[in-house]
Amino acid sequence: MTATVGVLLPAAGRGERLGPGAPKALRALAGEPLLVRAVRGLRAAPSVGPVVVAAPASEVGAVADLMAGLDVVVVAGGAERQESVALALAALPPGVGLVLVHDAARCLTPPSVVEAVVAALRGGAVAVVPVLPVADTVKLVEGDRVVRTVDRASLRAVQTPQGFARGVLERAHAEVRTAVTDDASMVEALGLPVMTVPGHEEAFKVTRPLDLLLAEAVLSARTLRARP
Ligand code: CTP
Ligand code: MG
Repeated sequence: MTATVGVLLPAAGRGERLGPGAPKALRALAGEPLLVRAVRGLRAAPSVGPVVVAAPASEVGAVADLMAGLDVVVVAGGAERQESVALALAALPPGVGLVLVHDAARCLTPPSVVEAVVAALRGGAVAVVPVLPVADTVKLVEGDRVVRTVDRASLRAVQTPQGFARGVLERAHAEVRTAVTDDASMVEALGLPVMTVPGHEEAFKVTRPLDLLLAEAVLSARTLRARP
């Protein structure tokens, strides 16, 4: 029997780097909230089953209204992303064997990336991250002084969805107490292998105002491509 795939969608951040306004997940992108676009993108991936959204604690009602008809569970998120993921994980229905954790802010992620992560999990990996090569030269610095240049060839920028065997993610959240910026880091801390699959440029995280312009451009290009 193939394992059911559940998705945890942390969407409880404030979006401080985006500037003043509503929490990021509720901001409009070409007329529609980021979170709605993120959920629809996930639903376009055939493997995706139950979805749990971690909403800003003050916006749980508003998010539940927004999610009406999209068949998702909404829970209140926490102060840190890691906490929001843990709260969503606790609400994941039984019977889900594989879990994807996906930033709501990566709202334009193509379904092919989701399916590539799931395929790697079904192939036996216990943790999977989508990655891209790094375009910029990267330097290690102390203050304003360069210490050295890091070899770019062996660096990867990491995206989401990150995929896990459910038991591994649950163990990571139960045992790892250090602050991390992604879920795979916690699995690395357990000493378990994390595998990579190719990511996608359109899976970028909407973080700063320029990202909103880029996202709108991506949506326009998709609309043009979809025209007969
Ligand atoms: N996130 C969350 N709970 C938090 C913080 C972040 O669920 N306490 C989510 C965000 O909603 C986002 C994802 O984690 O979908 C990635 O975080 P990030 O891009 O940093 O979003 P924000 O924290 O909202 O942005 P900022 O750091 O600029 O405030
Ligand atoms: Mg943040």
